[in-house]
Amino acid sequence: MGSSIMSMSVAIFYGSTTGNTEAAAGKIKEQLGDIVAAVEDVADADPSDLEKYDLLFLGVPTWNIGEMQDDWAEFIPRMEGLDLSGKKVAFFGLGDAAGYPDNFLDALGELWEAVKALGSPELVGTWPTEGYDFDASEGLFDEDHFLGVGLDDDNEPDLTDERIAAWLDKVRDEAGLPS
Ligand SMILES: Cc1cc2nc3c(=O)[nH]c(=O)nc-3n(C[C@H](O)[C@H](O)[C@H](O)COP(=O)(O)O)c2cc1C
Repeated sequence: MGSSIMSMSVAIFYGSTTGNTEAAAGKIKEQLGDIVAAVEDVADADPSDLEKYDLLFLGVPTWNIGEMQDDWAEFIPRMEGLDLSGKKVAFFGLGDAAGYPDNFLDALGELWEAVKALGSPELVGTWPTEGYDFDASEGLFDEDHFLGVGLDDDNEPDLTDERIAAWLDKVRDEAGLPS
């Protein structure tokens, strides 16, 4: 392992209305271990904190039929002026594919657009749509990938842990984190 790997700083930022995204953030922290320096709820975070880290995990649920989660909706305008160039970002999105099949994980797309505008950080951890049953999403990276991992605690809670584990393998690989 090179020193550049060891010195990569990592943090998780999330917004969560009913606790599912918060729980996912906790699982990511648990699986990655001590390399995660901070786990922050955007309801309490200072936007400038995002600039402190090299790899940012950003967690967002979609609410109100294709809308941004409330705390992120307040946080995003406050991010204006940040410089995230040179950083890596990895998204995890919570949604309900059965209840909202036409808007599954939509907020991923809106959050990526907002973050991309702050210096085009590198996106890591796109995730295949294979195995998800939905009709349309604004959270797509391309035809058959989401911008990040999709977690559906409403319909497939039993898949969440293994999805996170498999996705973190991909993120570690793409971001150059030790496995
Ligand atoms: C009123 C309502 C609207 C929702 N709208 C969407 C939606 O448009 N797309 C989606 O994928 N999930 C939608 N969801 C599902 C939530 O994203 C899902 O329950 C998520 O796990 C909540 O995360 P949280 O507990 O971190 O807030 C909606 C849920 C509710 C109750």
